[in-house]
Order: sequence, then structure tokens, then C-alpha cells
Amino acid sequence: MKIIHTRQLLSENLNVLRQQPLKMGFVPTMGALHAGHLRLMEQAKAENDVLVCSIFVNPIQFNNVSDLERYPRNLEHDAAMIENLCDVLFSPSAEEMYPEPPTEKYDFGKLETVMEGEFRPGHFNGVAVVVKRLFELVQPDTAYFGKKDFQQLAIIRKLVEDYNLPVKIQAVDTVREVDGLAMSSRNKLLSPEARKQAPFIWETLSEAKILTKNKNPQELSLWIKNKFTENKVFTLEYIQLVDASTLIEINDYKQADTIVACIAVWLDNVRLIDNITIQ
Ligand code: PAJ
Repeated sequence: MKIIHTRQLLSENLNVLRQQPLKMGFVPTMGALHAGHLRLMEQAKAENDVLVCSIFVNPIQFNNVSDLERYPRNLEHDAAMIENLCDVLFSPSAEEMYPEPPTEKYDFGKLETVMEGEFRPGHFNGVAVVVKRLFELVQPDTAYFGKKDFQQLAIIRKLVEDYNLPVKIQAVDTVREVDGLAMSSRNKLLSPEARKQAPFIWETLSEAKILTKNKNPQELSLWIKNKFTENKVFTLEYIQLVDASTLIEINDYKQADTIVACIAVWLDNVRLIDNITIQ
């Protein structure tokens, strides 16, 4: 695996590779790699001839300074994990990625105003800025994103559609710990005590899925809210049952073919998100 820190060297190296008719897969990440990231990379590796990955803790997608400062970083450890999986690892500095403060403004309509968009203003603009720049640098055939960040996936699909970007987006299922907790770099920030409590999120979502038979969407949302009110270690930020394609909240299960329940909670000062397809 070649580790590259500058845009110039990345382009030079990829141009050499592209002289042959190779299929290129790309997995962008912010590092602190775990089995969820590795699943994306394994799928990308299996479906392409060359795998390019990036590790960049993108400052402009953090709407909270302490979240950015606390975000776990360990490039050496990450690089060792993917040494035999990834062909090229791009890990730029913030100055390299943003020599000038970025000014691009994207409009994703409703997609960016609900859920994460409502509670993390500017977050998806920051994601779109970095992902579009990375796509332009790497020019992959296919890029891989996790369903764990369900709204991010919808935003990326919209970005590709709106700007006719020549890249296919492949969604990958959420990888979980054995106790059900969705893998996340932020799990490393939980105290051992909080880590023990964290599977409650997935347990509650899984139980809710079964209850769709006898509760309408409003009753189901309320049931989930009550569960988190009763469990004092959590603070619920939102729970929304949404149409998977528009992210618009549904009032009736007949309103959408695929319905996803998306949740954000605070536990031990750490913000965790998850989702479950309930229909
Ligand atoms: P990061 O949180 O590092 O995630 C990188 C990719 O891994 C994303 O596509 C995310 O959805 C996926 N992923 C994370 N946890 C996963 C899990 N448990 N199972 C499956 N996939 C999982 O998402 C970002 O970085 C950034 O916003 C980025 C797209 C890199 C732009 O900065």
C-alpha cells in the first residue's frame, strides 16, 4: 500500500495506474478504522482491480469544536490495518485539502434540513465539499458508503445526480458489534460503563420493528421516545420514521415502499446514530 499525503502525488500515481484499463474502487473515511470500514473496503476490493482509500478528519463537517478535537486519530495504526487490503491510501493535511477556506455551497433541499441536517447545521455541506473534491481527485468507477450514515448516503447520491459525477455509489450494510451496537469510530470515546449501555439503541430499534404490526407510526415513535426517557443514561435527539428515498417523515406505513427508523442519541457525552429498516 502506498501512503500519499499530497494531491499532486496522488494524481501522478493514479494517472500511472489509469494507463491500464483498471476498475477503481474508492472508500473515503475519517480514520479510526473499525470492521465497518473494513467491510466497505473488502467489498470494494472484491469488485474492483484497484482500491483507493482516504483518511481525512474533515474539519468543515464538524459543527462542534470539541467533537473535532476529540475525534480519534491514529494514522499508523489505521495504515497497518489496511496494509494488505488497500492499494493507495490518501491522507492529506487540512491545509493540503483546503489551501483556501472552501466557499462552495450546496443545496440538497429537504434532504439536508431534517434529522442530522437539523441538529448539525453545515454538516452535510462540509461532507459534500470534501466528497466532491475527493471524487474529482481520485476519479473512481465506484465509491462505497455505509448505510449506517443513512442520510449521508442519500446526500451523496443527490450530489452525484445533481452534478452528473461519473461515479457509481454502492451502499453497504451496517456492521455491528456482537451485542448489536453499530460500529462507529465514536464508540471508542465511550466509558466502559456507557459502552455496556450502548446496545440498548439497537435493542430498542429491533423491538420497535416487531411492534409495527400493532402500532401506527405515531404510536411507534412515541413508544421509542418513552423507552429513551425511561432510560436516564440516554438523551434522545430525534427518532424519525422516514421514506427511505425522500427522508420525509411518514404518518402511515402505506406512504412509502421502504421505511427506515433513524435515531440520534447522546450517551456519555458521545453522539451516536443508528437506523433500522422497518418496512
Ligand atoms: P466515517 O465516519 O469514517 O465513515 C466512512 C464510511 O464508513 C462511511 O461511508 C460510513 O457510512 C461507513 N461506516 C461507518 N460505520 C459503519 C458501520 N458500522 N458499518 C458499515 N459502514 C460504516 O462518513 C464519514 O467518515 C465522512 O463523513 C466521509 C464520508 C469520509 C466524508 O468526510
